[in-house]
Amino acid sequence: NGASSAYNDRIGLFHGDITTLSVDAIVNAANTSLLGGGGVDGAIHRAAGPKLRDECRTLGGCSTGSSKITDAYELPCRKVIHTVGPVYNHTNPAKSEAALRSCYRSSLDLAVQNELKTIAFSAISTGVYGYPSDGAAHIACDTVRKFMNSDDGQKLDKVVFVTFESKDLRAYMEIIPRHFPP
Ligand code: APR
Repeated sequence: NGASSAYNDRIGLFHGDITTLSVDAIVNAANTSLLGGGGVDGAIHRAAGPKLRDECRTLGGCSTGSSKITDAYELPCRKVIHTVGPVYNHTNPAKSEAALRSCYRSSLDLAVQNELKTIAFSAISTGVYGYPSDGAAHIACDTVRKFMNSDDGQKLDKVVFVTFESKDLRAYMEIIPRHFPP
């Protein structure tokens, strides 16, 4: 994104395959087993190679809204943060929102604890788990903005939001500028 971006230089938007990014950490939309699946999880495990699954096996799973960190093996990034998004609950959207917020927050905490400075998020829960794109983008931006304005947030250089489908790209293009004015 060049000088004409409608948002500030600590935020990025990348439309494409997250496994190609040479950032310090990419954030995987995993499930509670942490043993792989479809979507971005499948793409990350394919690109990282079988050693990623071997390490994930040692972690004992992960609860919804929480995150765990691993090495990145054959990926160009340094670390993978695995977070487990909520399955969108139409009858209790507040519960889904709290869990999604916790995914972003716990991933950012792990990045800082591990002295990582650049982090790229997949659009957690917006695929198989059915979270509406606009609502998810709003939670992602709001949580990241609050974190970056905190003391710990000063330790991060850049957060990149990654979209893969055009519905999510449209959502972020509309919602990022509201949260991160230039
Ligand atoms: N790079 C970046 N984003 C991707 C990629 C990729 N290579 N592939 C898919 N995506 C996007 C999807 O378009 C969606 O916006 O990742 C987002 C999250 O979608 P899913 O991968 O379906 O994840 P989620 O909705 O959180 O569901 C998690 O899916 O397969 C599983 O193991 C995973 O069971 C878990 C569930």
